[in-house]
Amino acid sequence: MSLSSDSGPSAEERPPAGVRPGHLGFIMDGNGRWAEQRQLPRTQGHAEGAEALRQMLRLARKHHIAEVTCFALSTENFEQRSEEELQFLFDLLAHHLEQEREEMERLQICFRAIGRLQELPRRLIDAIEKAQRETSGHKGLVFRLAVNYGGRAELADAFCSGGAGDPSLIGAQKETALAAHLYDPAMPDLDLLVRTGGEMRLSNFLLWHSSYAELYFTPVLWPDFSAVDFAAALEEYSRRSRRFGSVSTTTSGGDA
Ligand code: IPE
Ligand code: IPE
Ligand code: MG
Repeated sequence: MSLSSDSGPSAEERPPAGVRPGHLGFIMDGNGRWAEQRQLPRTQGHAEGAEALRQMLRLARKHHIAEVTCFALSTENFEQRSEEELQFLFDLLAHHLEQEREEMERLQICFRAIGRLQELPRRLIDAIEKAQRETSGHKGLVFRLAVNYGGRAELADAFCSGGAGDPSLIGAQKETALAAHLYDPAMPDLDLLVRTGGEMRLSNFLLWHSSYAELYFTPVLWPDFSAVDFAAALEEYSRRSRRFGSVSTTTSGGDA
C-alpha cells in the first residue's frame, strides 16, 4: 500500500465527512486471545498485533488524523507478564523501530515514546531514542507509543518531579503546572479512545488525557482490527455530541 499511488479508502472504509478526532488513542488488546484461538503461542499474537499497528498507522495518515497514541505495554504488564513474553515484546518493538525507518519517512511519522522508559532494556531504549531523533522533523502524523506506561505512574512521576509544587498557584494554574511535568507535555487531550478485545475499561491508560475522550469499545481482537473497523470507530465518533460540561450540542475537539 502506498500513500501516493493509493486512491484512498473504499466506500465501506471511508468515514463520513463529519468531524474527525485530532488525537486518537488505542488500547491494543486481544493479541493473546487471537493466538490462543489458533493454538499458537501468545507471542505470535503480539507479532500479528505489530502488523495490525503498521496497517493502522497507514490508515490514520489516509484519514488525516494528526496524532495517534497506542498502548503497547502497561506498568502492570511489565510487572506481571512472564519474562519470556516481555523479552519477546521488547525485541519485537526494538526490531520494528529499527526496521521501519523508511516507512516512517514515507508516512512522515514523528515517533515519540511515553512511560517509565528508563526501566526498559538498553537495546530498546537505544532504538526508541534513535527513532525519536531521526523522525523529529516529520510533519505527517505524531505517533506515540506507551511502553511500561501507567496513568497513575505518570501522575505520580509528575507530582514527584515538582509538578504539584508551588502552593501559591491558583485554579487552572495548578493543572497547567502539573501538565507541564507529564511524560510528553506537548501531548494534547485524547478526542477518541478505541479499545479492542471486548473489555470495557481503561486499564490505567492516559488517565489525565482521557478526561473528556469519547470511548469506543469493540470486541474485535487487535490483530484483526481492519480498515472497516477503523472507519466504523471514526463514524461513531462523528455522531457523538461533545459538551465538555456545557449545554451546547456541537461536536468538537478535532478537524472537520
Ligand atoms: C495486549 O494483548 C498487548 C499487551 C498487553 C502486551 P494481551 O496480551 O493483553 O492479549 P489478551 O488480552 O491476553 O488477549
Ligand atoms: C491493557 O491490556 C494494556 C495494553 C493493551 C498494552 P491488558 O490486557 O493488560 O488489560 P487488563 O489486564 O485486561 O485490564
Ligand atoms: Mg489483554
